[in-house]
Amino acid sequence: MNLKGRSFLTLLDYTKEEILYLINLSEKFKKLKKDGVVHKYLEGKNIVLLFEKASTRTRCSFEVAGNDLGMGVTFLDSASSQMGKKESIEDTAVVLGKLYDGIEYRGFDQELVAKLAEYSNVPVWNGLTDDYHPTQMIGDLLTIKEHFSYLENLNFVYIGDGRNNVANSLMIACSKVGLNYTCITPESLFPDAKLVETCRNIASEKSTITITSDPNKAEGANIIYTDVWVSMGEPEEVWDERIKLLKPYQVNANLMNMADPNCIFMHCLPSFHDTDTTIGKDIYDKYGIPAMEVTDEVFRSEKSLVFTEAENRMHTIKAIMYASLSDKNIL
Ligand code: CP
Ligand code: NVA
Repeated sequence: MNLKGRSFLTLLDYTKEEILYLINLSEKFKKLKKDGVVHKYLEGKNIVLLFEKASTRTRCSFEVAGNDLGMGVTFLDSASSQMGKKESIEDTAVVLGKLYDGIEYRGFDQELVAKLAEYSNVPVWNGLTDDYHPTQMIGDLLTIKEHFSYLENLNFVYIGDGRNNVANSLMIACSKVGLNYTCITPESLFPDAKLVETCRNIASEKSTITITSDPNKAEGANIIYTDVWVSMGEPEEVWDERIKLLKPYQVNANLMNMADPNCIFMHCLPSFHDTDTTIGKDIYDKYGIPAMEVTDEVFRSEKSLVFTEAENRMHTIKAIMYASLSDKNIL
């Protein structure tokens, strides 16, 4: 397997074998880290991280992974770079490609991250756009594999906003790797029909893709996954409508009881599971709900793997960067 020079923009560009390879590589890096083995395999290289939206996990994972691999890491947010305002994406990409060995981008348009890859001549990693969140997927698949020790034919249920970046990427990831994907979401939030068709073609006979508005379809789930009801970049005005629409789609004890007894709970985070955030508190004051997409009870339960999932972002981002920047097989 040689992924050197490849960008990581959407999992649609990767085969099942390539995705499984990245998971294996992540396991290797996680073990090296846990065993305290120094792995500065990319010493002398430099990467730049471009963030036009906020981040805790993704930014810190790229920084720690870059440092662990021995690379120099530069962080730029939209306020401190010329990108888009005084300099076109094309010019920015050419310049950054001459200075750096790899570029991470988090922002709005998927087209923008594709443009960076087209003009920079170095690997570009998508750290989240409005459409996709592919690095999150390798972390999620690693977490599932660590727990169940296999991936194929597990019943994966996503419930919540069915057409956001995380939901889109989960549908692709499940179809590629062979998990049965059920998306439970109100009809007005059904994922793009073309993407559903693409994923059904990828899954073919091997696994199923189900899109439904019925929360009872969580029955028999091995994994229940949710995400925030309003994503970064969406206007303030949507909160009111979204809360009313998605209240019946909250992950709570009732829903978890419908699932398989060994079902796990996952969330990409950050999560509104209590009132300990400014937004969570505002929503409580306005609508009287102490939690949104998941109750505090489920979030803190033994079934919840959310913090292992967050840790796995770092190990998997390390694997993704290593695979793009080196052709030396360390497995
Ligand atoms: N899950 C995730 O991408 O988290 P951040 O927004 O904190 O990077
Ligand atoms: N759907 C969320 C994911 C955050 C990691 C958002 O885009 O805000």
